[in-house]
Amino acid sequence: MTGTDTGALVRQLVDGGHLPAAWVDAFRRVDRAAFLPDRIWVRAADGYEPVDRTAEPEQWRELAYSDQALVTQVDDPPGTAGATAARTPSSSASMPRVVATMLQALDVRPGQRLLEIGAGTGYNAALLSARLGSEQVTTIEVDPALADRARAALGAAGHRPAVITGDGAVGWPANAPYDRVIATCAVHDVPRAWIEQTAPGGLIVLPWGTVLRNGVLLRLTVEYGSDGAVACGPVVGDSAFMWLRAQAPERDVMAVIQGEADSGRTRLDPGFLGDDDAWFAAGVLVPGCQWVVGPGPGGEWTLWLTDSTSGSWASVDYEPDATEYEVRQRGPRLLWNELEAAHAWWVRAGRPARTRFGLTVTSAGQRVWLDHPEKVIAADPRE
Ligand SMILES: C[S@@+](CC[C@H](N)C(=O)[O-])C[C@H]1O[C@@H](n2cnc3c(N)ncnc32)[C@H](O)[C@@H]1O
Repeated sequence: MTGTDTGALVRQLVDGGHLPAAWVDAFRRVDRAAFLPDRIWVRAADGYEPVDRTAEPEQWRELAYSDQALVTQVDDPPGTAGATAARTPSSSASMPRVVATMLQALDVRPGQRLLEIGAGTGYNAALLSARLGSEQVTTIEVDPALADRARAALGAAGHRPAVITGDGAVGWPANAPYDRVIATCAVHDVPRAWIEQTAPGGLIVLPWGTVLRNGVLLRLTVEYGSDGAVACGPVVGDSAFMWLRAQAPERDVMAVIQGEADSGRTRLDPGFLGDDDAWFAAGVLVPGCQWVVGPGPGGEWTLWLTDSTSGSWASVDYEPDATEYEVRQRGPRLLWNELEAAHAWWVRAGRPARTRFGLTVTSAGQRVWLDHPEKVIAADPRE
């Protein structure tokens, strides 16, 4: 069900069980449409197509009050390199139920100070300002035009949080310490600044991903010890956010596919990546591995794996009802072998759900664990 005003959107979220009672009032007081640009983008067959408020006012309004993520900026409009639709969103108004889920995970209390990374439209900052008071909220946006727009929309709606134009990876020390930090862009390497600007016992809610799978939602608690600030916490759900710009993976996954490869056979169905839990574990255990699916030689599909850092690639041709599949790999990394080993680990571990994993971040690096912070399954040292 969709409607064309704030009340209808709130009813939809409440009826769906997506909006916790503590946030209903803030969602009622903030008009999502007031934060959207006149041009928004919706999914089309080969990317995103614009919907303009003046040309298609009813469709625009319906989308504004729908429980959908709306792309609000693209960095390759149609016509770029011959494309008929935009392919790369660079900002969006997140899906309202995801906004609500993240705010619930943030567990805010009156009087708390909060930092948001990725102001985007300003809608989330408006919700936080409505709940906590503008003076408690700082939000950072890397894109100056977006930051200006968000500041103006917030002001017009009567909210005056600090809207900082800059790189959210360094936080905003001037207003620290924060009781809560929320990122609305995904990271793999959790920036130290977010942790060090969080008060003892404070929470960081962030979308976290690997280049294989973006991603999950983490809730980290910050504690201070003899080695400085440590953030640790579990996966609390799923999230698929655009990346913090400096951590965005290589866009052209296929650019790495060059040269001769060794061929072989595998008994593992490449469709195992369709299982979200296996896919998550594989992303953790096979760092730096990207994937794309393309047409296969027999009319089915081929899974391509690439690592742009080492120039390694692999492909696996899927065939229905087969018990073995054709593999090609070119090193130095044997990406399919690594993926097979990751899958075997996941099966041996009892096929754990992704919500059984968690992350610990110290000044020495970050560690992914299963069930308990002591049970580390992968570690990334910090450079
Ligand atoms: C999904 S949108 C955020 C949605 C936003 N919270 C809202 O309520 O509309 C992600 C935003 O993160 C911003 N972003 C990406 N990298 C960033 C960085 N390094 N620092 C600050 N913002 C960044 C993008 O420009 C984009 O506007």
